[in-house]
Amino acid sequence: MKRKITSEIIKNEKISDGIFSMWIRTDLHSEVKPGQFVGLYPANASTLLPRPISICESDNIQGAIRLVYRVVGKGTAEFSGMKPSDKVDVLGVLGNGYDLSTANNRKNITLMAGGIGIPPMLQLAKELSLSGHKTSIVVGYRNNETFLSEELSEYGKVFIATDYGSVGYKGNVIDALDAYKLSPDIIYACGPMPMLRGIKAYSTAHNVPAYISLEERMACGVGACLGCVCKTVNKDHHSHVNNARICTDGPVFNAAEVDI
Ligand SMILES: Cc1cc2nc3c(=O)[nH]c(=O)nc-3n(C[C@H](O)[C@H](O)[C@H](O)COP(=O)(O)OP(=O)(O)OC[C@H]3O[C@@H](n4cnc5c(N)ncnc54)[C@H](O)[C@@H]3O)c2cc1C
Ligand code: FES
Repeated sequence: MKRKITSEIIKNEKISDGIFSMWIRTDLHSEVKPGQFVGLYPANASTLLPRPISICESDNIQGAIRLVYRVVGKGTAEFSGMKPSDKVDVLGVLGNGYDLSTANNRKNITLMAGGIGIPPMLQLAKELSLSGHKTSIVVGYRNNETFLSEELSEYGKVFIATDYGSVGYKGNVIDALDAYKLSPDIIYACGPMPMLRGIKAYSTAHNVPAYISLEERMACGVGACLGCVCKTVNKDHHSHVNNARICTDGPVFNAAEVDI
């Protein structure tokens, strides 16, 4: 059940240029599905809304969750200045997450992510590995600051693409599939919208199911404001309109079912 909890920061450190990793002590850890997120509240009243951040890892031993975030504006800048033992309000657990049962009987499970879409792939890769699946993980970065790639390699085979070829394949993660001779039979993805559109097109062209996480702008994060609606292919049973709320119906959707 989702709730707002005041939690303690265990660790908050810079792991790459503009990218931070924060561990928060919270009993939400036991409820996490990969691909779910929390709303993290800035303390500053002028930045009132919770900022949606994906859960990168949950740790049942230390009773904590990990968030990895890029500083892009006021809220994330404030988070980057927080110190161990500071308190932060966390709303969670939010969203649907990836359905791991869709991986059953698949041989070429492929995780694809770019930039700040990479963090939720760590918990996903870990859980798929724990349930006995082998995965290929294709990750796209701007440059050689390949944050989380080593940790991901503990759970699957990592293939890197960078904008200018400073590490791995030069180009995007979709072209990298061919370059690395990967033939997914299911895709789990998270990243910027152009990348997700490319994955949807790939999924249609190759008849491969793809589950994509839409990390678009949000306001309330709990289904109340309709600030995060996306178009769907089919009509909603209740509202009879072609849309879904990303914060509650998503953020993970079957690519075939959303109009992006
Ligand atoms: C489900 C979900 C999961 C997310 N997971 C992560 C994560 O794991 N790590 C992470 O770093 N970020 C993640 N984001 C994006 C994150 O929520 C925003 O970067 C954050 O809210 C920005 O807050 P801010 O106050 O720093 O920036 P603001 O001052 O609100 O905005 C600064 C700039 O960032 C842009 N921006 C704000 N939100 C988004 C967004 N969702 N997508 C693209 N641009 C945006 C604004 O247009 C503006 O240009 C996620 C978003 C969603 C919806
Ligand atoms: S952010 Fe308010 S309904 Fe989704």
